[in-house]
Amino acid sequence: MMEPVLRIHNLTKHMGSLTPVKGISFNLERGSCTALLGPNGAGKTTTLRMLAGLLSPSQGEIRYGNSGETGADNQRWQKRIGYLPQYPKFYGWMSGLEYLIFSAKLSGLPGKQAKLRSLEVLEMVGLQEAANRRISGYSGGMKQRLGIAQALVHEPEMILLDEPVSALDPIGRREVMDLLDRLRGEVTILFSTHVLHDAEEVCDRMVLMVDGRIAEQGELSELRAKYRQPLLLLEVEPGEREADWLRSLPERHFIEEAEIRNRAARLVVQDMDEARAALVREMADAGIRFQRIEAGASSLEDMFMKVVGA
Ligand SMILES: Nc1ncnc2c1ncn2[C@@H]1O[C@H](COP(=O)(O)OP(=O)(O)OP(=O)(O)O)[C@@H](O)[C@H]1O
Ligand SMILES: [Mg+2]
Repeated sequence: MMEPVLRIHNLTKHMGSLTPVKGISFNLERGSCTALLGPNGAGKTTTLRMLAGLLSPSQGEIRYGNSGETGADNQRWQKRIGYLPQYPKFYGWMSGLEYLIFSAKLSGLPGKQAKLRSLEVLEMVGLQEAANRRISGYSGGMKQRLGIAQALVHEPEMILLDEPVSALDPIGRREVMDLLDRLRGEVTILFSTHVLHDAEEVCDRMVLMVDGRIAEQGELSELRAKYRQPLLLLEVEPGEREADWLRSLPERHFIEEAEIRNRAARLVVQDMDEARAALVREMADAGIRFQRIEAGASSLEDMFMKVVGA
């Protein structure tokens, strides 16, 4: 059975007149990779800072493992958790190795062990070659991997990464996503992102936050199944008859949702077979010149856009 490393119950944060986190609850299973997904201002950073012990909750509870240990036991927490802030700051004049030794010593490792562990994590994140170069010469992806190395240096059970790929170009993003993929299973990972695709690429679970609340959470595979609906995409030739026909589509009883745009329609239907047969017949009868008909299914992306939708 799955064992939660972290149980979060009714976690709330007030800041002046704002409440960026409004009573959220979720568990993190040991060894899982969970995405904390949400648009700008959803409350992801505030949540991660509370989990990292850097910000105290206004209400609610964070418990570690089955011990019943709570946030009051701060010293032991920080040993168990590694944290990468959204905007990490490095001393550019230090080398990657120096920076890690410095971080390792800060977390309480004695000198010799600090160096050994630093070399080990540099290798884990693929920076061994750059170990003795100044951080100021690192690429964005290298800096972010160094930040992850810093989060790992004291051998935590869990790492919290705040938007580790958001500021990176495609190459840097790939480097960091590959690293997360390698770390999966070795350490429990919670990382925030505003991109569903990032979550789907490496995670097995997601917690979707919108405006301080959890809009949806669960296993990605289950959520995909839950939000799967038959979907028809149509595209027609330019023409008045075609345009009129497209505009009339929402009246059909078998169409649940219609989005008509220009010469294309995106139709969520109840029954694919019925809808397909009826529409093809109509098009033939009315002489509608179509360019494309595609039968498929709506995805998590559609749900995400709807929930997050501006
Ligand atoms: N120190 C603070 N003082 C006042 N308001 C704050 C503070 N920190 C966060 N907020 C507010 O709380 C809300 C949530 O912020 P938070 O940074 O947690 O969101 P986020 O999901 O991390 O957003 P982003 O994707 O932009 O990083 C925002 O509306 C923000 O303005
Ligand atoms: Mg943030």
